[in-house]
Amino acid sequence: MTTSTATTRILHPAFRAKLMSADAAAALIHDGDNVGMSGFTGAGYPKAVPQALARRMDEAHAAGRPFRIGMWTGASTAPELDGALARANGVDMRMPYQSDPACRERINKGEMEYIDIHLSHVAQYVWFGLFGKLNTAVIEVAGITEDGHLIPSSSVGNNKTWLDQADQIILEVNSWQNPGLEGLHDIYYGTALPPHRKPIMLTQPQERIGEAYFRVDPAKVVAVVETNHPDRNSGYAEPDENSQAIARHLMDFLQQEVAKGHLPPELLPIQSGVGNIANAVLQGLNEGPFENLTAFTEVLQDGMFEMLKSGKLKSASATAFSLSPHVLEELLQDLPRYRDRILLRPQEISNHPELIRRLGLIAMNGMIEADIYGNVNSTHVMGSSIMNGIGGSGDFARNAYLSIFMTPSTAKGGRISCLVPMVSHVDHTEHDVQVIVTEQGLADLRGLSPRQRARLIIERCAHPEFRPALLDYLQRAEAGAPGLHTPHLLQEALSWHSRYLAEGHM
Ligand code: COA
Repeated sequence: MTTSTATTRILHPAFRAKLMSADAAAALIHDGDNVGMSGFTGAGYPKAVPQALARRMDEAHAAGRPFRIGMWTGASTAPELDGALARANGVDMRMPYQSDPACRERINKGEMEYIDIHLSHVAQYVWFGLFGKLNTAVIEVAGITEDGHLIPSSSVGNNKTWLDQADQIILEVNSWQNPGLEGLHDIYYGTALPPHRKPIMLTQPQERIGEAYFRVDPAKVVAVVETNHPDRNSGYAEPDENSQAIARHLMDFLQQEVAKGHLPPELLPIQSGVGNIANAVLQGLNEGPFENLTAFTEVLQDGMFEMLKSGKLKSASATAFSLSPHVLEELLQDLPRYRDRILLRPQEISNHPELIRRLGLIAMNGMIEADIYGNVNSTHVMGSSIMNGIGGSGDFARNAYLSIFMTPSTAKGGRISCLVPMVSHVDHTEHDVQVIVTEQGLADLRGLSPRQRARLIIERCAHPEFRPALLDYLQRAEAGAPGLHTPHLLQEALSWHSRYLAEGHM
């Protein structure tokens, strides 16, 4: 790994003059502030200031003083940020996507407000002023150029917006980040607020439309902190039988779509969501028959890197790396080989509805459960407890050419059916869900009415143990519901969930 000093990473003297410790920088953040942090998955998040801030919060709380902030990020981060601040009970309101266990616990105990919004919406909502004033931005960068531009690190997320909007800026210059990252990013400065918006002129996934650096007003930079700490993404599980079966169903389906002329032989740009199944599907694509693929996605995870390595994937546009440590190491060691094929953009562009619709993406995302009519719950266990958040799944599902959701047919050792009469929380409505895949099979819902969809989902996707009960529900709903367009027995529709909560089995 690279080691370098402030002199080699911070080339502009005005920024060197602001060098200070993480503790001194954290002292510039106050109770009640809104703080925009860099970070998207375990990449590019500030590593020192948040921990120093958490220590100050602990001290304040021990002395009986309040100290909590509004914390805005790109998406989930890592234990040094989300974990540290959640453990200190220092976050009043968190947005958007998170996946940290301590953070999740606070949210589900009602001790932290959490606003789970589409990732493409975050920047514009902040520009619209819907979350109030952004007091401080804490941004990790890989370096500062001679002319005072910032070299982004391993994620871009909402950093451009935080740098634009914050009253004061704290920079962490992380000399662990590979200097070869310089030039890899594409920071688009052409966004505007309605009614002044113009088309975003991107017509191919790998086109460059922006700049390689962040612009920053040096007068707003109040502290520069040096760090040398690795990113911390968690690893992926080896694909199990279920994920391999899901991947196989999906490969067969995509081949059929090519044969029917619905998709070109090189497919359309792929988007792949978070989680082990999404990663396993990428492995399936890597071993599958398709060549010259492209990706226009949110995170570049292990499976996608393997595809870049094998040459199956020509290029990948994303907003962050989400690579397990050994894979990240491999990418960074060999960065020159991939530089021209990887591009990191702000999340308002990587997830932009206009671009997703224009490019015609194949969106593949995980889910918690789907109902017989095709509504999808990606975020809440038993209707009430947040798992992670909607992330970019809605940005992609609502605008893709093909919107696919995947899950094993059961969870918790077979005690839960992931196909239910009615989902306990809706993230993606039946109108945005085109294909559902489980290890049992694949249901292509396009062109089908609700009752036709229900039969197909039950027949193709449900686990055999739950299939008869689902069919029985549908048939009784068809006989007894007041309307037959989307028949439901309202007193029974969520009984599978309440039975699980009461008896531990659906
Ligand atoms: N009811 C209750 N719990 C369920 C469940 C269900 N129907 N289905 C899954 N779970 C639990 C699993 O048991 C597991 O629990 P554990 O952590 O205690 O072991 C957990 O949910 C994760 O399930 P897993 O099967 O490992 O799925 P995954 O890693 O593929 O993640 C999501 C699935 C839905 C959590 C994940 O895809 C996600 O957060 N999606 C929303 C955001 C998104 O799609 N982003 C991508 C946009 S780019």
